[in-house]
Amino acid sequence: MTQTKVPLTVNGRTSEVDAAPDTPLLYVLRNDLELNGPKFGCGLGECGTCTVLIDGVAARACVIPIEGCVGREIVTLEGLGSRDKPDPVQQAFITEQAAQCGYCLNGMIMTTKALLNTNPHASEAELAAALRYNLCRCGAHLEILRAALRAAGQLAEVGD
Ligand code: FES
Repeated sequence: MTQTKVPLTVNGRTSEVDAAPDTPLLYVLRNDLELNGPKFGCGLGECGTCTVLIDGVAARACVIPIEGCVGREIVTLEGLGSRDKPDPVQQAFITEQAAQCGYCLNGMIMTTKALLNTNPHASEAELAAALRYNLCRCGAHLEILRAALRAAGQLAEVGD
């Protein structure tokens, strides 16, 4: 496809991106908008590290063409909070130090955020189900789940 101007609303700001309409959203976020929270892992929609919110729902940016994002609200990790004022989900992951290499964290945080948007006090089973297709090669899943539980206000239920 040929390049064209595609309007995208990301983290509350609308800008026109010069790209082919079938360009994966992840490429535009990282290469054009310099938003490097979402990571490139598999590029196939399977690992979850590229996750963003589209209209509040977790979506895998590596397999979504930008033409499908026009008129929708995209939020990346950078749009959740700042270093000085992190989102409660980000703060929970910091508090629990829920990472080893950290490459999967964008997906873990954004997927947790999407669930808590509709279910603010999700249970351990609900959080585990939501995160089950987000891969972590370091095996930090227990720490990640504990951080998600903290974000959902459920930590007392697991013996904190
Ligand atoms: Fe998108 Fe793996 S990079 S799901």
